[in-house]
Amino acid sequence: MQTIFSGIQPSGTLTLGNYLGALRQFVELQEDYNCYFCVVDEHAITVPQDRLELRNNIRSLSALYLASGIDPKKSTLFIQSEVPAHTQLGWILQSISYMGELERMTQFKDKSEGKDAVSSALFTYPSLMAADILLYNANLVPVGDDQKQHLELTRDLAQRFNHRFNDIFTIPEIRIPEVGARIMSLQEPTKKMSKSDENEKGFISMLDTPKKIEKKIKSAVTDSDGIVKYDKENKPGVSNLLTIYASCTGESIETIEKRYEGKGYGEFKQGVADAVIEVLQPIQERYNELIASPELDEILDEGAEKASFVANKTIRKAKKAVGLGRVK
Ligand code: TYM
Repeated sequence: MQTIFSGIQPSGTLTLGNYLGALRQFVELQEDYNCYFCVVDEHAITVPQDRLELRNNIRSLSALYLASGIDPKKSTLFIQSEVPAHTQLGWILQSISYMGELERMTQFKDKSEGKDAVSSALFTYPSLMAADILLYNANLVPVGDDQKQHLELTRDLAQRFNHRFNDIFTIPEIRIPEVGARIMSLQEPTKKMSKSDENEKGFISMLDTPKKIEKKIKSAVTDSDGIVKYDKENKPGVSNLLTIYASCTGESIETIEKRYEGKGYGEFKQGVADAVIEVLQPIQERYNELIASPELDEILDEGAEKASFVANKTIRKAKKAVGLGRVK
């Protein structure tokens, strides 16, 4: 059976973009793959975090994974910082990462732009992400479109390591969903929907109430055409709403365009809101049951143990290949 690894940062409540671009595919994939899903808290601290908020976000994200349908009997769900091999391999991979290739990462450029205090960890973040994936010898990494560049670097680092030291890492493939790989901001539809957006109206949180979801979609930026048609270049707002609608219902974009032919944006937006609410409401109900349950801790303990077992084997091999420590 092939292996899958993916991770999500606990840096705020997940957005509809995280769900449609990533989480939802995880749920389908766990049926056919040996899956590791991670709460990547060490990635979250590459930018300043409030201690208590971070703790809450870690728990909340873990519950959201489960509420979305991750089944701990099929998949291993764990917290990155509870498996020390991640930072250990991250360091080794940093030693073979070049400044030039890290400088080219668009996520680093976006996140550091205009800031005076940028942590060195934000810069070396992709080496840690590569470690996450390579520790489990993942064959496939399901992510949204924005992680493509990081995945390419992961493949380069794996090949470089294998070539320079010993052939121990599997070269992972990326898996991006056909629809929903890049959900855009509701307010600035040329920018990706992000949980760190300062304008709350730009994103739908997975835990927003139905009323809030409706309000945000109704105030989404569109255009003055009044025609429900997919045209990413000229109608980015409407196209984004069509993508969201299609992703949530599983219908094709053409079917939805036909349904709203000759109808205004008001009716269309109501349809989008209904589709989103129908997807998120059952997840929210399960989330509320899980968040306070001791079951969540048991699942995470077991996940950390299972992940550590595999990760420790790989880190031993990697240290040996590089020549670290003593021969035992
Ligand atoms: P993060 O936490 O920013 O996002 C988690 C996942 O959600 C996807 N995503 C989106 N998909 C569609 N539309 C959007 N607007 C949108 N926003 C986010 C992301 O592509 C991602 O799949 N570096 C990663 C976390 C990570 C990781 C890993 C992922 C760390 N180690 C190893 C895979 C494998 C990140 O910041 O994701």
